[in-house]
Amino acid sequence: MVQDNVLAYLEKHRGEVVTGGQIARQLGVSRNSVWKAVHALQKKGHDIEAMANSGYCLVEASDGLSATAIKETLTTESFGRELELLETVVSTNSFLKGLDTAALPEGYTVLADEQTAGRGRLGRTFYSPAREGVYLSVLLKPRLAMDDVPMLTICAAVAVSAAVEKVCGLQTGVKWVNDIYCNGKKLCGILSEAFISAELKTTEYVIVGIGINSGKVDPAVADIATSIFEETSVQGIRNRLAAEILNQFEYYYKTLLTENGCRTVLEEYRRRLFIVGRKVEVLQHNTSYTATVLGIDDAGALLVKTAGGEQEALRTGEIRLTQ
Ligand code: BTN
Repeated sequence: MVQDNVLAYLEKHRGEVVTGGQIARQLGVSRNSVWKAVHALQKKGHDIEAMANSGYCLVEASDGLSATAIKETLTTESFGRELELLETVVSTNSFLKGLDTAALPEGYTVLADEQTAGRGRLGRTFYSPAREGVYLSVLLKPRLAMDDVPMLTICAAVAVSAAVEKVCGLQTGVKWVNDIYCNGKKLCGILSEAFISAELKTTEYVIVGIGINSGKVDPAVADIATSIFEETSVQGIRNRLAAEILNQFEYYYKTLLTENGCRTVLEEYRRRLFIVGRKVEVLQHNTSYTATVLGIDDAGALLVKTAGGEQEALRTGEIRLTQ
């Protein structure tokens, strides 16, 4: 599609002025169709300056999503190679779940500019305003026992943390099991949903949803949430960030499925876990108690020491930081 290709070309030359003729020659289309495509892209919210007699420039801060630009940065075999980009959707996880997942390849990805009812863990909502985040879901088809599903969330958490570091130069930490934090505030949440084959008692497929705040943070939650923009003042990175998350996620996912891969992934997770030694409130089955975090065991469970001195391994549940 001309629009996608024009956008990808401008993305490659972000911040530079390129002439309509140059784009038209590169893409083998007429200058008029380039003009039309630029016009349509501007309408969709891409920040493209049109300079009389000189050309077009995708401004550095322009943050519109482009499937073509993302694909050009992918180094993956399957993750994101089939990518469905939506302007708005209720939830990328729910949307993907509603597709014929049996017919889709592993790595199939749904990415949205906005979610009107983004979902978080434990029935919570994930606020996903247009243009202010990267909201994506990836279809995975491993054969895993239900107990091993949290390892996929762990892979995704390591992948997001590594991608944010690589693309934005920002150090982040992981809070068991599915949150990425930066300077004491939440930057990203992950929601993994597994679908079990009743016959085999293993996963038929798993949808891993990742939501990162990249732009402005709602002032109502500014004391607990942060974003790439809040931390770095950088805008215009959503395509590169989405691509790098997919690159890193595939890498850690493949590693996980190799012999001893679980150990490698957990080492990386432990390195990024910032809650060791911290006092937390453990929320489980409608009860809560305070404990101190000891670390992560070899199955990915959180090891805590209760106030009574007992050691527990938490495979599910939630912790709240109390200090
Ligand atoms: C959490 O913080 O509890 C998890 C949040 C997960 C949000 C992502 S955004 C993409 C995907 N679609 C959803 O509806 N949720 C996940």
